[in-house]
Amino acid sequence: MKSRNWLFGIVATISVAAPLSAAAQGELVLYCTVQEEWCRPMVTGFEKATGIKVLMTRKSSGEFYAQLKAEAANPRGDVWWGGTGDPHLQAAEEGLTQEYKSPKLAELQDWAVRQAEASKYRTVGVYAGALGYSYNTEQLKKKNLPEPKCWSDLIKPAFKDEIQVANPNSSGTSYTMLATLVQLMGEDKAFDYLKALHKNINQYTKSGAAPARAAATGESLVGITFQHDAVVQAIGGAPVKIVSPCEGTGYEIGSMSIVKGAKNMENAKKWYDWALSPEAQAIGSGAKVSYQVPSNKSAPVPAQAPKLGEIKLINYDFVKYGSSAERSRLLTKWDKEVSTLPK
Ligand code: G6P
Repeated sequence: MKSRNWLFGIVATISVAAPLSAAAQGELVLYCTVQEEWCRPMVTGFEKATGIKVLMTRKSSGEFYAQLKAEAANPRGDVWWGGTGDPHLQAAEEGLTQEYKSPKLAELQDWAVRQAEASKYRTVGVYAGALGYSYNTEQLKKKNLPEPKCWSDLIKPAFKDEIQVANPNSSGTSYTMLATLVQLMGEDKAFDYLKALHKNINQYTKSGAAPARAAATGESLVGITFQHDAVVQAIGGAPVKIVSPCEGTGYEIGSMSIVKGAKNMENAKKWYDWALSPEAQAIGSGAKVSYQVPSNKSAPVPAQAPKLGEIKLINYDFVKYGSSAERSRLLTKWDKEVSTLPK
């Protein structure tokens, strides 16, 4: 009897000790909005650096913004990493994200710090990249179509059903296009343009980068995305040419925010500081899955990253187009006036 008690004691100690040590390392619920191929090595890198277990989900920018709003009373996510800045700014304004001043702020590019200041430190810039489009050079030749060079080329009747772009409600990429066109042309002309473009769209995808893959495989002739998403395809050997539209184009400040009321707040801050470090910001380009410009001044800029200084960029007004009122208004207008139109 005595020896059985002794044995039971050991078994009980082992079974209690195992979950305790796992719990001591803790968890982090990560909402990830870059490409899955980049989310995964980031998760592995953080787990290795800290021993914290990461539970990751990948969704588009507009989808996670909506999810944060829906979960506000009982937040499930701890940190939202990546995705275009506008919905991060909207979440900040609506009090869905937590103020945090990382000690790493001093190491960042001005554009990343400005994003933090604009949101009262509820979000921060992690990378930047310019909008544009890519086309499949083999398909273009086969269809005997002229090389598109400008936004205006994409609404020509010759490109009927040849263009793919995401839906701006789910995708931050596509909302960046909508806001860019409004800033480039003025709102009335931009909506006329979007209505004309609608006739040439073969599919509005959920995720922003999907049209770059479609152009790479030839499933669509043209894909409107961030230029760095098309770089991934070109480096993978796809016959694509990347275009910076002649009229000028917009850009994103890919951002990161801590969820207000995060259950694993200390671990969320650990991710935040780590994700702003040069080591973490080198992971994507090291794995050949990210060609954005990183926000830490000491992080290596991938040689193939589109050179922002050489692209005709508009002076994108992040404060205005990331505001709750403006983003909601433009999306409602697009739903009502563009998406419902017959082809
Ligand atoms: C891709 C790009 C990112 C961008 C993200 C937005 O992953 O590489 O730079 O922030 O798309 O995603 P979404 O699906 O919201 O357009």
